[in-house]
Amino acid sequence: MSSKVFIETYGCQMNVYDSELVMSILTRAGYETGSSLEEAGIILVNTCSIRENAEQRVFGRLDRFLQEKKKRSVTVGVLGCMAEHLKEKLLEHPAVDLVAGPDTYRRLPEMLGNLCAGAKSQIDVLLSKEETYADILPVKTTDDGITAFISIMRGCNNMCTYCIVPYVRGRERSRDPFTIVQEARGLYEKGFREINLLGQNVDSYLWRAADGDISFADLLKMTAEIAPDLRVRFSTSHPKDMSDDVISVMAEYPNICKHIHLPVQSGSDRMLSKMNRKYDRARYMDRIHKIREIIPDAAITTDVIAGFCTETEEEHKMTMSLMEEVRFDSAFMFQYSERPDTLASRHFPDDIPLPVKTRRLNEIIELQNGISLECNRKHIGQTFTVLVEGTSKRNKDELFGRTSGNKVCIFPAGEFKAGDYAEVTVTGCTSATLICSAGRRVNHD
Ligand code: 5AD
Ligand code: SF4
Repeated sequence: MSSKVFIETYGCQMNVYDSELVMSILTRAGYETGSSLEEAGIILVNTCSIRENAEQRVFGRLDRFLQEKKKRSVTVGVLGCMAEHLKEKLLEHPAVDLVAGPDTYRRLPEMLGNLCAGAKSQIDVLLSKEETYADILPVKTTDDGITAFISIMRGCNNMCTYCIVPYVRGRERSRDPFTIVQEARGLYEKGFREINLLGQNVDSYLWRAADGDISFADLLKMTAEIAPDLRVRFSTSHPKDMSDDVISVMAEYPNICKHIHLPVQSGSDRMLSKMNRKYDRARYMDRIHKIREIIPDAAITTDVIAGFCTETEEEHKMTMSLMEEVRFDSAFMFQYSERPDTLASRHFPDDIPLPVKTRRLNEIIELQNGISLECNRKHIGQTFTVLVEGTSKRNKDELFGRTSGNKVCIFPAGEFKAGDYAEVTVTGCTSATLICSAGRRVNHD
């Protein structure tokens, strides 16, 4: 059997980062990275379970892996959130040999070894209160060589009633900040120019040290100070925890990107309370006003859930009115999907009929598309500095990059290359992209 490993990743950026950790653990143990499913002896799928359709998609992939298994000797493993969620049940799928939860990746070489030695299957889904993989430098497999993600904490303690994350990712724990900065510096030295600090709730990041605690605001500063031409982004912020300190640090450092992802979920106080979000609409709006006061040009994006249990038509309209009030630059919008184990699944009937949920979601999407387009139109004529990430998918003579506010810009390649900072002027737009003309190169020295 080939020792080449191929990992497919679904779900959030945290999962992308975890796949890179897994590759690092396996390459250290002598495995190689495979570039396709067909050449791999070990196929791993690192999966999401946040919404039901995410899991359905993975079952489709497992059926595909089964076909591969019928042709040749190959080991198939399921990792991550879905592994943690479904546990032994996954072994019932004829393709699956191995199931490993998000805190067990250090054991993967041992588990693969056991399979190689003849074990029928391997499973470890133990969650940990300490594991942060702080000492493991991920292998960048899916990179453009310019932008990278770094996980700064794992797990979540928030217990939103709809959310499966605390059950599949375990308790919240923060990673040693010095290892984070070291990883970011190493990436900068390799040519990376953007670091995205990731956590389920970055505002509750806290590292306790004898000579003083390190907060998320402190960590942001430490990362921003690595180099003026290293951009720093972060996600996700929580409206109940986002402090004035974080907003001030963002304003202070030009290289901290002026973009805040602040999930609101609903505009109705009754829904927010039922979701156990621990803030109300007034507190959310207070955070928006504070951000706009300190960083007037900040882009603000959000997550919204349509059709949560018992949501009335009026409450749905409250979400829309909040969206109109804030005018988010963009949003991830979902219809509520009941997840097993969550408090909502145990206590609140999923009582909004599917057609109603879908209609509400469509109304929300339509509203947001209009707002996104209008936000982008306001940029026409403005000049931005973008970090060039690569060649546009549609036209090889064009490049793409992002503004500090995370807007994707497309512009003529000229002399620019990935990793450059380019000044561009917006000439047109869609609701998702800014079309630009290119100006001069920006130097940070
Ligand atoms: N149903 C629908 N959307 C959900 N999210 C989390 N759990 C659910 C669920 N059960 C959304 C939230 C969250 C984003 C990552 O996914 O909006 O912020
Ligand atoms: Fe990421 Fe949550 Fe999905 Fe896990 S369940 S992959 S943490 S979004």
